[in-house]
Amino acid sequence: MLLRLSRSVRELYRVCFLARAGEIGLLEFLAGKDGDVGAITQALGVEPDRVQALEALLDLGVSIGELRAAKGRYGLKGYLATALAAKGEDSWRAMTSEVAGLHVPCLLAAPGREADAAKLSELTVALSSVIARSSRMLEPVLKVVTRALIPPRGRVDLLEVGCGSGVYVLAALQRNRVVSVTAVEREPDVAKGATEAIARAGFADRCTMVNADIRTLSFGPDFDLITLHNNIYYFPEGERLQLLVRLHSWLRPGGRLAVTTPCRGGGTFARFMMLWSTVTAGAGSLPDPAEFASLLRQAGFAGASAKRLIPGESYTLFLAKK
Ligand SMILES: C[S@@+](CC[C@H](N)C(=O)[O-])C[C@H]1O[C@@H](n2cnc3c(N)ncnc32)[C@H](O)[C@@H]1O
Repeated sequence: MLLRLSRSVRELYRVCFLARAGEIGLLEFLAGKDGDVGAITQALGVEPDRVQALEALLDLGVSIGELRAAKGRYGLKGYLATALAAKGEDSWRAMTSEVAGLHVPCLLAAPGREADAAKLSELTVALSSVIARSSRMLEPVLKVVTRALIPPRGRVDLLEVGCGSGVYVLAALQRNRVVSVTAVEREPDVAKGATEAIARAGFADRCTMVNADIRTLSFGPDFDLITLHNNIYYFPEGERLQLLVRLHSWLRPGGRLAVTTPCRGGGTFARFMMLWSTVTAGAGSLPDPAEFASLLRQAGFAGASAKRLIPGESYTLFLAKK
């Protein structure tokens, strides 16, 4: 029992250590160089009375094989610590924070009472910026989807619901010089981050950011394409038909709706998402592909196709036409 459990506990500590090392800037500081406790303390701005705790954290990192220590100096050692320290791996660093900060509390609260459900909802909101970053781990797949949805030429009016970091808004704006986007994002910090990223890329004039809950908004039939990436499970099942009917009414004739989401079944990550979506207040469970396609038809869409995007996973693109 001791040996078997120790192995599993070590892996849990590994994820939590990597999450914290990323959050406090330790991975970034040690990327490509070693440092002693003094240098690390200074670089991370650790208070003098917390140095002993920092040393204990570093020693735990050594004990699980993510750090090495020699002659009082620490460096990166493990595959994950080294890979996560690299520039461009921010989504995976955020994923360790999401797992440690949200998945673990969710598992510990399941199946949960009303108070647990409310707490998880608050925790999800508090971690919105982390979730917007971790969602980008799907970027390689969803950038291909964006390319397929946006023609390289010709005017396209796009409405993106729950745009998170804005990465797919940017991809659409980059793909076609006359695309115009209305991006909706409920969380103020996340909307601000996306607005800044879009402005930095020089696309502010072709994107209107609306910081609001999509359920409170109303549009005319002004869009050629509406996209919802990784957020249909933020809408309770009982509200989805009404949401889809409204999205349908905002499309021009021939306009398309694209929804990407993990569905029921699939691998461990999709199973966790199913748990989160059923334990958390205000969320709705992952869709069943056949049921969701049928709901799209009920909402008035002429046809609805469902295509799995990742081999062995339940991650699906639903495409429906007005
Ligand atoms: C998991 S994140 C995905 C972000 C982005 N679509 C992506 O795939 O990278 C879901 C986002 O949808 C936003 N969201 C959820 N419900 C919303 C609503 N009712 N109206 C607007 N935004 C919403 C959340 O705040 C969050 O930023």
